[in-house]
Amino acid sequence: MSRLAVTDPEIAALVVAEEQLQADTLRLIPSENYVSHAVLEATGTVLQNKYSEGYPGKRYYEGQRHIDQVETLAIERARTLFAMDHANVQPYSGSPANLAVYLAFLKPGDTVMGMALPMGGHLTHGWGVSATGAWFRGVQYGVEKESGRVDLDRVRDLALAERPKLIFCGGTAVPRAIDFPGFAEIAREVGAVLVADVAHIAGLIAGGAHPSPAGHADVVSTTTHKTLRGPRGAMLLSTAEHAKAIDRAVFPGLQGGPHNHTTAAIAVALKEAAGEDFRVYARQVVTNAQTLGEQLAARGFDLVSGGTDNHLLLIDLTGKDVPGKVAAKALDRAGIVVNYNTVPYDTRKPFDPSGIRIGTPALTSRGIPASEMARVAEWIDLVVGAAKSGDEATIEKVRADVKALMDVYPAPGLPVR
Ligand SMILES: Cc1ncc(COP(=O)(O)O)c(C=O)c1O
Repeated sequence: MSRLAVTDPEIAALVVAEEQLQADTLRLIPSENYVSHAVLEATGTVLQNKYSEGYPGKRYYEGQRHIDQVETLAIERARTLFAMDHANVQPYSGSPANLAVYLAFLKPGDTVMGMALPMGGHLTHGWGVSATGAWFRGVQYGVEKESGRVDLDRVRDLALAERPKLIFCGGTAVPRAIDFPGFAEIAREVGAVLVADVAHIAGLIAGGAHPSPAGHADVVSTTTHKTLRGPRGAMLLSTAEHAKAIDRAVFPGLQGGPHNHTTAAIAVALKEAAGEDFRVYARQVVTNAQTLGEQLAARGFDLVSGGTDNHLLLIDLTGKDVPGKVAAKALDRAGIVVNYNTVPYDTRKPFDPSGIRIGTPALTSRGIPASEMARVAEWIDLVVGAAKSGDEATIEKVRADVKALMDVYPAPGLPVR
């Protein structure tokens, strides 16, 4: 970064400060991770200088001999890893990827069915404040109040009543495994296209720690920067039948030139995710989340659905008498980074909800083992209690303890100072 420091010392200083923050804190946001040095290097290459509208072999600009090979490698690796016929690696991020799916299959006003945002779904699954809810008719399913889980019979009833053309399964705060065959059966019954949005769990699927949507979903949408541990980007995978519609929707339907440096970094991340180490990583992410869940439950924390099958835990803090935002801000002061989140049937507002959402992808990338989860749970318990009583001394003490543990497990991709 020596050149950046000369050209723009303000930005350089902020990057260094962020590196230090990421090194010193326990990052429990389930959608975040630490990418490898190799992925970081690929994102910072001259590939970003090149315009490449179109697809390998069919571009609107000349000079593509290297770019075509980069994109082809990413496509082939994605197809192989996720066992899907077709892959498009150009979507700029998860939200544009999902919008491209609408463009591929729906006309404005058509019906889309997805999980409601406050139940754990994503904005882009037809929720009202998103373009997907404004331009299309969104009908939403949720989880059951008692179990915190999706009841597929209820989903089927809703689908039969509303006849959506597109059904999304998956979400952003879903601690339980997605029943891809069950959703596929419902989609077939009503003649809908099934999209598995596996943004959160793509790395677990790649590593064999979550069932695969291949053979069930028509389209698989995923970001590349969460459990998959790649750059900020996205991919759309599909059956051969839908390949053309997906490609046309991404370009020229929605986007212009692909971000070739990101495509290269996606290819690198996919190569890493195909290795045996990544399978060990994916299993460890789940083991850590389940162990952390057990430790939190033992300390009286109310876990939505009672636990987790994947990398994330959704915690209802109502019983602790601390709002999610207050807890999240206290945890941040203690060096534990989470996000506040609505819980199903929340009585509080989305910007001041009852819960927090935590996950283990980033801490597992640091190599932190399950045996440390008791300590992590104890810190969370201490800080949530301190948030209620205003005990800043405890928060300070936890911050020092967190830093000491982070020093034992340095994060990948960060400079060693
Ligand atoms: C399930 C799901 N889909 C789509 C997205 C959107 O991804 P992005 O933030 O890259 O637009 C997210 C992001 O959190 C997500 O969780």
